[in-house]
Amino acid sequence: MSPAAAPDKAGRPAREDGSVPRHVAIIMDGNGRWAKKRGLPRVAGHRAGAEAVRRTLRAAVKNGVEVVTLYAFSSENWRRSEEEVSDLKGLLGYYLERELESLAKEGVRLKLIGDYSAFGPDLSKRLEKAMTKLQPSNRLTLVVALNYGSRAEIAQAAQKLAVKVGEGSLDPSAIDESLVAAELQTNDLPELDLLIRTSGEVRLSNFLLWQAAYAELMFTPTLWPDFGEAEFEAAIDQYASRERRFGGR
Ligand code: IPE
Ligand code: IPE
Ligand code: MG
Repeated sequence: MSPAAAPDKAGRPAREDGSVPRHVAIIMDGNGRWAKKRGLPRVAGHRAGAEAVRRTLRAAVKNGVEVVTLYAFSSENWRRSEEEVSDLKGLLGYYLERELESLAKEGVRLKLIGDYSAFGPDLSKRLEKAMTKLQPSNRLTLVVALNYGSRAEIAQAAQKLAVKVGEGSLDPSAIDESLVAAELQTNDLPELDLLIRTSGEVRLSNFLLWQAAYAELMFTPTLWPDFGEAEFEAAIDQYASRERRFGGR
């Protein structure tokens, strides 16, 4: 793709024509299969997956994407072995520490969705420290979904609205799409434009169900650890060639 015109205030290439998605979400799948193919333990796949995250973020910054939301741990991933869950937690902490400086240098801000408190006070503290350190950045917002489940997110939004109704501050007939969206954890993000899933699986696995209503969907057989700049840019190109209709003709 060829970013035209002058960069915007945050230094991103200009994209007035809408050809570059503002918000890209990725279901990073296939780490286990990548490792298995090589006769390695699953954790080796997750480690290699962390490198793919780094390449992807660099490509996103380069191409002027504003928000990248990564599915790192679903609320269903607790079903995995204790060992794998602990490996994933360990890697997350390690990656944060190791990448913090370079994320700051690249202008990456960090936001979390999902209930990360379930990962315990130690990791929670490290996550909060990283968010604080990256607070001033404005080039790319990295949203990491941790212990995230879309149905739970929507149910919580319903609960918050119900509380307001109960208190008498909200009339049930006033509840519309924008009020529901405002109670979701993504309420401060631009609309999701493009959702990519790697590894050949063609499902959403409880990720951004509400937000994906009009997103363009892309499924690639590439396993997540093999994903990188070329494939990210190919996805952006394909996005540019799609016609988004939003129900019009
Ligand atoms: C995605 O890779 C990473 C996480 C879910 C944390 P998987 O671990 O799901 O890899 P496969 O699907 O078993 O290959
Ligand atoms: C979805 O992948 C969750 C993440 C990528 C974090 P899974 O591998 O857990 O999804 P299923 O089990 O194949 O649906
Ligand atoms: Mg998987």
